[in-house]
Amino acid sequence: MGLVSLLKKKNRTTLFTTPSHGGKFFILHKFYQWYKSDISETDTHDPVSALLQAENKAAKIYGTKYTKFLTNGSTSGIIAAVLASGVKKILIWDKAHPCHKSAAKLAGCEIIEYELPLDQEWGVYRAITPSAAAEYLQKYSPEGIIITSPTYEGFTANIEEMSRICREKGVKLIVDEAHGALYPFSDKLPESAVKHADYTVQSLHKTAGGLNPTALLHSNDNDPSEALSMINTTSPSYPLLATIEANINYLNSSKGRKKINELIENIKSINLPQGGDDITKILIKKDGISGYELSNILFNKCKIEDERTNNVSTMLLTGIGTDKKMLMRLKKAIEGIYNGKN
Ligand SMILES: Cc1ncc(COP(=O)(O)O)c(C=O)c1O
Repeated sequence: MGLVSLLKKKNRTTLFTTPSHGGKFFILHKFYQWYKSDISETDTHDPVSALLQAENKAAKIYGTKYTKFLTNGSTSGIIAAVLASGVKKILIWDKAHPCHKSAAKLAGCEIIEYELPLDQEWGVYRAITPSAAAEYLQKYSPEGIIITSPTYEGFTANIEEMSRICREKGVKLIVDEAHGALYPFSDKLPESAVKHADYTVQSLHKTAGGLNPTALLHSNDNDPSEALSMINTTSPSYPLLATIEANINYLNSSKGRKKINELIENIKSINLPQGGDDITKILIKKDGISGYELSNILFNKCKIEDERTNNVSTMLLTGIGTDKKMLMRLKKAIEGIYNGKN
């Protein structure tokens, strides 16, 4: 199948996956119009005008020193963060997203990989604990560490404690918050790292309604502009950059905050199961069957697609585009599975 045919193909399943706009683009309803204004010019490596203004405004919203718009996902944010940090010896999780190792390699870092224990209850890796981090920092004396929080399944690290430990040792903390872009806009969600860590990377497209592959790099350390200029095109997509600005303005508006709150309240009122620390990531399991079997039943019998599955559990991702109807459908499917009807 060609790419055009692929895009024309109708999806007949209910998606609990990224991207989180669910094809509805309610935040970016003017997007198609913007795409007609595909301009070429201004070098984003010296974004003196509109882009810099938009980024500065975003930094104020997030309470960071620098916030940079990314049109190549959190992947580029992690790479730029490591390059900008200037660290030459770095601790990375051995099971992290591959961009962590790529970043460390591209920056010419000495790489030390840390391990995390597998949580037998859910079959997933939880985020690093401050005590484990302190031990690793003591043992290896790195200049920087990258942590993933939240994990795919919604387990978070104690960010304040992690930053305190890292600051005390003079170690730069880079947080992969790719799955936590809604956190700064709700006190009912786990705390975001944006104000605490040296560098935080968030994918807007994963949970916050953004288009693939829009994302953000926040820094409270060095200005990441030069690092970004080394890995980015000199012809960025201004329509995509504009969607980032609109996306942030929406999340920060009372309408956007209300929408996030609605998602959380809907999940609570429908009483969907919760596994991790983030209520928007619905983690389910059933005694006697594996996560993969659960995922297959959801897909084949209930026409529901999950985001990620392991041997024990399966995770259904919700985001700002997940409405009550979808959640009710999911609840019905889960109930059917739990009482053996599906
Ligand atoms: C934990 C984590 N970090 C980083 C990334 C890369 O994000 P992006 O797809 O926005 O480049 C992903 C993508 O799945 C991820 O799961």
